[in-house]
Amino acid sequence: MARNYYIAGNWKMHKTRAEAAALAKELVEALKDGKHKYLVAPGFTLLETVAPIVKGTNILLGAQNCAVEEQGAHTGEVSVLQLKDLGVQAIILGHSERRHNYREDDALINKKVLLALKHGFDVILCVGELLEEREQGRAEAVCERQTTEGLKGVTAGGLSRVTIAYEPVWAIGTGKTATPEDADAIHGSIRNVVEKLYGGAEAAKIIIQYGGSVKPENATQLMAKENIDGALVGGAALKADTFVPIAKFA
Ligand code: PGA
Repeated sequence: MARNYYIAGNWKMHKTRAEAAALAKELVEALKDGKHKYLVAPGFTLLETVAPIVKGTNILLGAQNCAVEEQGAHTGEVSVLQLKDLGVQAIILGHSERRHNYREDDALINKKVLLALKHGFDVILCVGELLEEREQGRAEAVCERQTTEGLKGVTAGGLSRVTIAYEPVWAIGTGKTATPEDADAIHGSIRNVVEKLYGGAEAAKIIIQYGGSVKPENATQLMAKENIDGALVGGAALKADTFVPIAKFA
């Protein structure tokens, strides 16, 4: 399969500017000969600090969210125009923490996806089931719905800038990882959804990352699976010691 591995670090609500700069510098140095595609997504207040450090390197700059509106009276929100101004290249949308802790639904996430694509960003669209949904045998159906609804109105051209991240909610930050087999099965079903919507060629190209307690110890086994094309890493992305071995998995 000709897909390139894509390893992304989601720093969530961690780090001060000095800490973020230090980590970004370490990653630039350690990954300069890395073979895969890389991204870091620092918090909004850190973007201006990290931007010049990763600029021109093989590490893309990502944001963790954006407002659903382009601009206007939206207290506390951050606009795509402001993100573009800082040099942000990609936006993570539909993260489970946004879906479940901040009540973002499929329709809202879809609007954000369309807005981000319209403004030239790459998008990482996160999907994934809750534990109870998995226990009810609904994991595939939930991911199908989130993928289909999230991509509504996205053209094939737009899709080429979309990465999907499968992140089972019960595996995020819990230390529990989906087995490579279980993850691969869902990745395969998501790829089938993309095939239904866009055809086989697009489905073969789309990058589907796995997220949920990815660590240096499990990265290689996950990435060995046919349909797992990379990782969206949270906790282990906060230190070069743990992110670099994932990013350079053998
Ligand atoms: P985790 O987070 O690696 O800490 O489980 C993953 C994510 O939320 O993207």
